[in-house]
Amino acid sequence: MNGSKKILREAVKVHRCRAEELRRRLIAMGTLDESLKPFEENGFVFFPLKRLEEVHGLVEELGGELTQALFEVRARRPRSLKEYLAGKLPSSILDKLPSSYDIIGDLILVDLNDELRSYAREIGEALLRLHPRARMVLVKGETTGDYRIRDVEVVAGSGSTETIYREHGCIYKLDLRRVFFNPRLSGERLRIARQVAAGERVLDMFAGVGPFSILIAKLQPSARIVAVEINPDAYKYLLENLKLNKVEDRVTPVLGDAREVLENSYEEHDRVIMDLPYRSLEFLDVGLRACRRRGIIHLYMVSRSLEEASRIVADKALELKHVVEIEFGREVMEVAPRRSIFALDLRKIS
Ligand SMILES: C[S@@+](CC[C@H](N)C(=O)[O-])C[C@H]1O[C@@H](n2cnc3c(N)ncnc32)[C@H](O)[C@@H]1O
Repeated sequence: MNGSKKILREAVKVHRCRAEELRRRLIAMGTLDESLKPFEENGFVFFPLKRLEEVHGLVEELGGELTQALFEVRARRPRSLKEYLAGKLPSSILDKLPSSYDIIGDLILVDLNDELRSYAREIGEALLRLHPRARMVLVKGETTGDYRIRDVEVVAGSGSTETIYREHGCIYKLDLRRVFFNPRLSGERLRIARQVAAGERVLDMFAGVGPFSILIAKLQPSARIVAVEINPDAYKYLLENLKLNKVEDRVTPVLGDAREVLENSYEEHDRVIMDLPYRSLEFLDVGLRACRRRGIIHLYMVSRSLEEASRIVADKALELKHVVEIEFGREVMEVAPRRSIFALDLRKIS
């Protein structure tokens, strides 16, 4: 015998052939009690009601009958991390649980402070139950080195850290342990890609696994893009992602240091993307050189404010004997207390 809890409730009994229509109309009227499970018996379906008023006309119209019946209570799935962990972690901890985390393909990436780290396994397992399609939960560590790779610790689930991530209709294969990837930049990628006009020549100086280049190639098929990347693993995924997204004919991948690559090239571009926030200024000279006059540079940099970032960039350009006009700027995300990544769109005047 099924031991689940049952409750006696006002109900509508209707022939199976009218059941779907009745269900839809009860939901629309807000009278179906969705905490209980409808059931079928001898060709008739029983729906639990929250209240009897309003339903008489409908019941008559569909040849149904008002009655009472015993309904099974639906097991309600917790809807938040806090609900999952209620009763399992101290309440002081429940209030400090992370309110956001990144889902990258079938991996979940979460930031936990020192206090929450002692509960990392419980939090990881709760996240897997909350997101049944996720396979593994990783806790964020530091992002270091030229390749900007994040240290991650697996706290729940198993398998490899390679995954397939979908963004704006593109597919990216990547391994979080070997390459940089941040889904929080997806808005920036779309903002830039939408600006690219037909036939533009675009340079993606720090391409990673290709999310700027590939989205541009998809949205603007006549654009020609050069994507430079120094990390051999990221470059390998870039090549694979160009194929997966069928844009190999529009994007030229280059493995190497952007400075060396550009110092040996005289090609001018209409648009240059400089997504290396901690060091982009060091490359501004080659970025400016690779950009045609009146072309655009999308520069990402870490600073305390938009004003400070704009001033530093304009000064640096002058020091390099160039004039730039800052056409647009915005804060993209906070990376430390009072430090954020800013996006600046620079028009090269001279
Ligand atoms: C912040 S990540 C951005 C990646 C990509 N734009 C994205 O949105 O995922 C910077 C990338 O630049 C690469 N990189 C770092 N120094 C470089 C250099 N000197 N030349 C070319 N690529 C470089 C890193 O390996 C990393 O993949």
